[in-house]
Amino acid sequence: MSNKKILVFGGVGQLGQCLSKVSEERNLSGLVFLDEIAGNILDLDILRALFQKESPDFVINCAAYTAVDKAEDEPELCEKINSLGAANLAQFCAEFKATLIHISTDFVFEGNVPVLLKETDVAAPINVYGKTKLQGELEIAKYLEAHYILRTSWLYSEFAGNFVKTMLKLGAEREELSIIVDQVGTPTYGVDLAAVILDLLDSGQTAAYGTYHYSNDGLCSWYDFAKAIFEISGTKLKVYPIPTSAYPTKARRPSFSVMDKTKIKTTFNLEIPYWRDSLVKCIHAIK
Ligand SMILES: NC(=O)c1ccc[n+]([C@@H]2O[C@H](COP(=O)([O-])OP(=O)(O)OC[C@H]3O[C@@H](n4cnc5c(N)ncnc54)[C@H](OP(=O)(O)O)[C@@H]3O)[C@@H](O)[C@H]2O)c1
Repeated sequence: MSNKKILVFGGVGQLGQCLSKVSEERNLSGLVFLDEIAGNILDLDILRALFQKESPDFVINCAAYTAVDKAEDEPELCEKINSLGAANLAQFCAEFKATLIHISTDFVFEGNVPVLLKETDVAAPINVYGKTKLQGELEIAKYLEAHYILRTSWLYSEFAGNFVKTMLKLGAEREELSIIVDQVGTPTYGVDLAAVILDLLDSGQTAAYGTYHYSNDGLCSWYDFAKAIFEISGTKLKVYPIPTSAYPTKARRPSFSVMDKTKIKTTFNLEIPYWRDSLVKCIHAIK
């Protein structure tokens, strides 16, 4: 693993920075972190030059269009980045014999029944972002056998913008907040996900290519998540539970999108941290 060349697209986004942190902790030197200019996944000339120069063993695709509500207003751009961009990387990986690790989302599911979502469940996205992420998954499977698709949910970390950092900011400014209680899912600490991505590459398990679900363990509503953030950080304010109908957004979101992680746990012999334990680590890292 230490002598492998790994290209990370979306390398300065939230998950890219988590990968940078974990690879530094592990003293890995073969990772090349690319921003959206040096590693524009829509620019075929840039991609060809990069693959020729670096001859990567692995490619990690953290690049995506992630603005879920804005995507409803610019579906073409969202589709280009999440679907065509993924297809481009898959085709170059096939040509240059690299393995692709691509990150997808629980939003590929409708998520309207309180049952754990398995990799084999039918995907039926209810917003533009989810549809384009599903298209990206299908494109990859079409062009490349040597791939891992990791679907994750409610990603947060000490890096970039995310729910935890927004709550900490609002918690410092406000005396009360109302947070949605009827959407249930599982938070994922990006640093945990980054560690799993690197473990998975290290496993050398080529027989295990395919799609996997990964989030932290357990489940909660956004309201529970916010309450935990304020408790752990020692922020004093009133938090009220409200229904989704009281906080309308452009994009619809699943009401229950908790993923079953049995497949990734058993295939790679993983122990997945409980979401609140990882939240404690993240808040300590932020402070
Ligand atoms: N965040 C979540 O809650 C969540 C939940 C489930 C799944 N995911 C998935 O997890 C992955 C990582 O998410 P994240 O939170 O790290 O997202 P992020 O912080 O928004 O990072 C995505 C990165 O991709 C870059 N990018 C956009 N267009 C690009 C292009 N054409 N070529 C190359 N790079 C481009 C963005 O650059 P700019 O910022 O400069 O545009 C950004 O740095 C994504 O696949 C996302 O769909 C995220």
